[in-house]
Amino acid sequence: MKIKISERYDVNIYFTIKGEELNMLDEESRNYAINNLKFDSSTNKIYSNLGPGSQNIILIGLGEAEKVDGNILRLAAFKAAGELNKNNIKEASVHATKIEGICSRKTVKSIIEGLLQSEYKFDRYLSEKKSNSLERIGLIPLEGKDEAAQKAISEVETLVEGINLTRDLVNTPAIDMYPEVLARFATDNLEKYGVKVEVLGREDIEKLGMKAFLAVAEGSEKEPKFIIMKYLPEGDDKPAISLVGKGLTYDSGGYALKPADGMLTMKMDMAGSASVIGSIYAVAKNKINKNVVGIVAACENMISGGAYKNGDIISSMKGSSIEVINTDAEGRLTLADALYYAATKINSECIIDIATLTGACLVGLGEYTTGAITNDEKVFKDIAKSADRSGEYVWLLPSFPEMRELLKGDFADLKNSTGRFGGTITAGMFLEHFVEDTPWVHLDIAGPAYNARGWGYLNKGATGIPVKTLYNFVVNASK
Ligand code: BES
Ligand code: MN
Ligand code: ZN
Repeated sequence: MKIKISERYDVNIYFTIKGEELNMLDEESRNYAINNLKFDSSTNKIYSNLGPGSQNIILIGLGEAEKVDGNILRLAAFKAAGELNKNNIKEASVHATKIEGICSRKTVKSIIEGLLQSEYKFDRYLSEKKSNSLERIGLIPLEGKDEAAQKAISEVETLVEGINLTRDLVNTPAIDMYPEVLARFATDNLEKYGVKVEVLGREDIEKLGMKAFLAVAEGSEKEPKFIIMKYLPEGDDKPAISLVGKGLTYDSGGYALKPADGMLTMKMDMAGSASVIGSIYAVAKNKINKNVVGIVAACENMISGGAYKNGDIISSMKGSSIEVINTDAEGRLTLADALYYAATKINSECIIDIATLTGACLVGLGEYTTGAITNDEKVFKDIAKSADRSGEYVWLLPSFPEMRELLKGDFADLKNSTGRFGGTITAGMFLEHFVEDTPWVHLDIAGPAYNARGWGYLNKGATGIPVKTLYNFVVNASK
């Protein structure tokens, strides 16, 4: 859909707050809405009066003013678009609302995002594609806020493009999304915005000594790819934020094979890497002045005669030996080498890794929340602030030094699985071993990266989480 400032169309959408007088309605409609339909502006309540002879107005309730936040606005705008599509409407004007305690820029951005989020669908594999009726939105900003609103439109449009390309990457099944495809996608979509994309194949990966990464890739017919994406607007002598994404284009579990239902969604095990590509896309296209480097060790975790096995002892780029207790704890092995690369080969001021790392994170924090581990409270606070601004949920988990003992192997320096307790924490602490004291935050997105039912303003499947958090983190660091 095209969003234009101040364009007036026949259908008008207003967001209303509890207690508001509904002056946009004529007296008759107002009485009917309040007395007969009991429309009281509660959150997500919709009053819709459309068609010939009507006022052509849709009201979306926001609830109590003090409780309105970005996500309530996003969802309200998402519902507004849904109501327009349901009624086969092509164009409408959407009126921004002044909400006490929220700046008008944030309000407008949230509304634009909610409208755009309503458009996402993954229909590449459907013979019959359904299209939405909605084509044009006229956004009516608050008085005197036209210019800010205009800027917000193009910024959010690009951000949602980044989110949507992340979702497409994650939703694409592994038969069509393997390391080479992921790498080509990054090259094709990032280089045109000034990102230098370097793709290393097996030989170069071997030369770097990434033995842990290669061990995981061993069982697959598909060549592993190590993808480095450099966006350096500040010049290559300045440090960069390094974003390291888990890039398992499929995780069968390897010889520690997953049961069928657990394996079913494992095309999503590259969601971390997809969010790195999507957020760098938005950062570069919006010309944010901050150095960012994306790093992805992409491979599949499969079974073959040559595949790695439970009980194997493997090495790593750092030189630490690792006992493979469980081939299904593969993500931390690929990340070990990717993180060590970020810590030693890139001038990283901090490292954020993003990974669908543990089922335990789903058990502990549920479907909607990212679990975090850090060695640097300050960087974590910035991530938390960025998540908050984005309407994404992040929760810091405790990582006490005593727990490090659990990672010690019997016959190797480390082991890749530590038993039932605190699985998300021990996985994160395993990664910490490879960041060489660089300020670092680990984000376990096993829960929120993919939602088979859809929730809030996110249609079902891949969610694009945490692209917004990463984007806002970079924007914030550019100031
Ligand atoms: N990719 C999975 C984690 C996962 C599970 C992500 C469910 C999204 C949804 C990861 O590679 C894995 O298999 N982890 C194991 C670790 C265990 C063997 C220590 C797990 O969580 O069971
Ligand atoms: Mn696994
Ligand atoms: Zn995995």
